[in-house]
Amino acid sequence: MEVVKFLSGETVPLEMHKVRMVQKVNLIPVEDRMQKMQEAGFNTFLLKNRDVFLDMLTDSGVNAMSENQYAAMLQADDSYAGSETFYRLEEVLHDMFGPAHFLPAHQGRACENIIAQTLVRPGSVALMNYHFTTTKAHITLNGGSVEEIIIDEGLRVNSTCPFKGNLDIDKLRKAIVGRDICFVRIEAGTNLVGGQPVSMQNIREVSAVCREAGITTVFDASLLADNLYFIKTREEGFANVPIRDITREIASLMDVVYFSLRKLGSSRGGGIITTDDKLFNKMRELIPLYEGFLTYGGMSVREMEAAAVGLKETLDFHVISQTPIFVEAMCNELLSKGIPVVTPPGGLGCHVDAMQFCSHIPQGQYPAGALAAALFIASGVRGMERGTLSEQRREDGSEPLAEMELVRLALPKRVYTLSQLKYTADRLAWLFENRDLIGGLEFEEEPTVLRFFFGRLRPIGNWPEKLVAQFRKDFGESL
Ligand code: F0G
Repeated sequence: MEVVKFLSGETVPLEMHKVRMVQKVNLIPVEDRMQKMQEAGFNTFLLKNRDVFLDMLTDSGVNAMSENQYAAMLQADDSYAGSETFYRLEEVLHDMFGPAHFLPAHQGRACENIIAQTLVRPGSVALMNYHFTTTKAHITLNGGSVEEIIIDEGLRVNSTCPFKGNLDIDKLRKAIVGRDICFVRIEAGTNLVGGQPVSMQNIREVSAVCREAGITTVFDASLLADNLYFIKTREEGFANVPIRDITREIASLMDVVYFSLRKLGSSRGGGIITTDDKLFNKMRELIPLYEGFLTYGGMSVREMEAAAVGLKETLDFHVISQTPIFVEAMCNELLSKGIPVVTPPGGLGCHVDAMQFCSHIPQGQYPAGALAAALFIASGVRGMERGTLSEQRREDGSEPLAEMELVRLALPKRVYTLSQLKYTADRLAWLFENRDLIGGLEFEEEPTVLRFFFGRLRPIGNWPEKLVAQFRKDFGESL
């Protein structure tokens, strides 16, 4: 992506790729959108894709792939053990992250399972900038707990801090004294606080404290591509440092690096790399048990070939800049209409602040879940709740209220166009004008683990019907 100046003086994001394969999408009428939302238990995860116009649920496994990625899939080497594909992927990882052991896994959370089983002791604590849903679930499943030590600025929805994902070094120093710390985890592009990056300076400091204290460090590189862009553009001294050098330095500072290849490398799969022989040997034993043989780890060899090329493409500035520049464009569009979003814009997607947007809905009635449902009804755009619904209940059954109530509008790489972003912003602006019509949600069916994935909810009152009536009044026959 580039940003160019138009004759009018306006600056516009300009794609550095062209689209040569497309998928048709449907925009069904507003009444049908409400019905589909009802059928999906007011949970956007349960919608069928055929009813969705723009799928901004996630970027996971749905980034557009390049022609070179597709071409590579044709030369995949099918074999249970010793596949040439594995060695090609390993070679790319060595080039990017530096020489290290590589363990393949079927996706990011599978890596988390292996890491948690290897490192988490009952009663131990994993310190991190912020949890991710699946990360926390695996740590607690193994008897550990998660403690977040993100800088205070990270939890402010609006800030000018360029690296809101940073860990607070004072909190880190205090948190490790006299406690059983299983590991310290840094999440690149901190997902649940709005795709906010971590600075190289911070990674260096965390590494130094942990190495001195003998504590294992784990780096979640799933959202590394966006984070690399922010280090290059926001951190002093990095503008001219090659992306490979930044990546290699990060890896050299950490004991374990893992990633979801559904995000990093724009394909599907996962992997763990480490230079620690002991840890490698322990984790290796679990791979054939849970994932598959050591040279495929549950991945299709075709996806591994696509990942190898996708990872190489992560070293191209035009590739890693696409999402952050689009996110910024969308955030600016929304801000110009008075809609509250997380600032500064991060990676992954545009994050709408449902706490402000729906300030009339109590947190216990899931304002972000309600806003995500309302947005689908108003536009056919599918976003994702990232708030209290995405939290898990405590052991005593009580419900922690999330620190942020966000609706994430993920922008998968190279998938949507500027006019589609403008449409989304416009329908959100309409919703903002009519926000008092949006009501809360309550559980109809609540799973005990990762409830946001398949829990079913119902609206409190008949607000969806009122919203549809207002839509028809304002937009007439328009879709
Ligand atoms: N870590 C981070 C930071 C993630 O964002 C994800 C997935 C994972 C780990 C787990 O990886 O899905 O391959 O098992 N995030 C997706 C999302 C699901 O929509 O943000 P996975």
